[in-house]
Amino acid sequence: MRKKLFFVLSILMAAVFLGSAAHAATLKIGVAGPLTGAQAAFGEMLKNGATLAVEEWNARGGVKVGKKKMKVDILWGDDRHDPKEGVSIAHKFVNAGAAGIVGHFNSSVSIPASTVYAEAGVVQITPASTNPKLTEQGFSTVFRVCGRDDQQGEVAANYIVDKLKLKRIAILHDKTTYGQGLADETRRFLEKRGVKPVFYSGVVQGDKDYTPVLTAAKQKNPELVYFGGIHPEAILLVKQMRERLGMKAHFMSGDGIVTDEYYKIAGKSAEGTYITFTPDQTKLAAAQNVIKKHRKRFGKEVGAYTIYSYVAMNMILNSIQATGSTKGEKLAAHLRSKAWNTSLGKLQFNKKGDVLESPYVLWQVKGAKFVQIN
Ligand code: ALA
Repeated sequence: MRKKLFFVLSILMAAVFLGSAAHAATLKIGVAGPLTGAQAAFGEMLKNGATLAVEEWNARGGVKVGKKKMKVDILWGDDRHDPKEGVSIAHKFVNAGAAGIVGHFNSSVSIPASTVYAEAGVVQITPASTNPKLTEQGFSTVFRVCGRDDQQGEVAANYIVDKLKLKRIAILHDKTTYGQGLADETRRFLEKRGVKPVFYSGVVQGDKDYTPVLTAAKQKNPELVYFGGIHPEAILLVKQMRERLGMKAHFMSGDGIVTDEYYKIAGKSAEGTYITFTPDQTKLAAAQNVIKKHRKRFGKEVGAYTIYSYVAMNMILNSIQATGSTKGEKLAAHLRSKAWNTSLGKLQFNKKGDVLESPYVLWQVKGAKFVQIN
């Protein structure tokens, strides 16, 4: 009996020891976004970009932290674009000892989650959250590799005024931090240019019938309908405008609709849609390697935010290796200390954690494709 007990105890102790050794040997990085749900197309971009980066590091033996090389383990967080879910994931990541975070996708999730990461001193780089507030909170460990909606909204407004020369603008948004924020920035810059929108309204994310609000907008005879939001609602709006109400007004939106699903599902109704987004990444020499690897690994082309996620993950792992530390403050100081040569070209952070340069340009859906037009 004694012998048996001793045997069982030794096995248990060995398991605990091995468990903690394994725990100490891997570097955990949290990656979070809408991995399921209506916005999963974007979650997949974040997932694939981060996966590619980590697989490359692990193939080289891992990240050198001080004297030892550590393999990287991704902790996955599916926030389903729900702010509450995002905060709960943030707590889980922190409790699991995450050394850095790539995420989240939606500003409405990244912002509340950032409080949790910042208080725990964990560095966070979002590939895609563009609402200005994220980096205006004074958190030294929060970064984004994408642009901001005060830049994006200005480009949208100037294009409407200078190039399209339109005056009757209807503005819709999905009432989220991102959607409403971007719509409000676009409205602010339109008004600065002397164009006061003829219609302004929020719509409920997840609804299926937007004809009541579109009918009200139609009565104002808009030449262009601007939507701040994500592709699932944009698809319904543009389809219902064209197919049910026969509205011919231009349709314009932002980075939140840049997924193939937009023109594949909306079909002919999506043709001509104007979009503000950053310049074509697939033309960048620096991006060719990751584009090829992505094609080979996942059998498809990179999406709007795949390379952003790849770059964010690489920046975190590079910073850990360069500083030999996983402390948020040290990593943040390193992130700010230089211009980074990335697969998106040169990126440099300012004090707030924004990139110094993030040009937005105009795109249009033409022949069932996104085409950069300026
Ligand atoms: N840019 C979008 C956001 O901030 C995805 O939510």
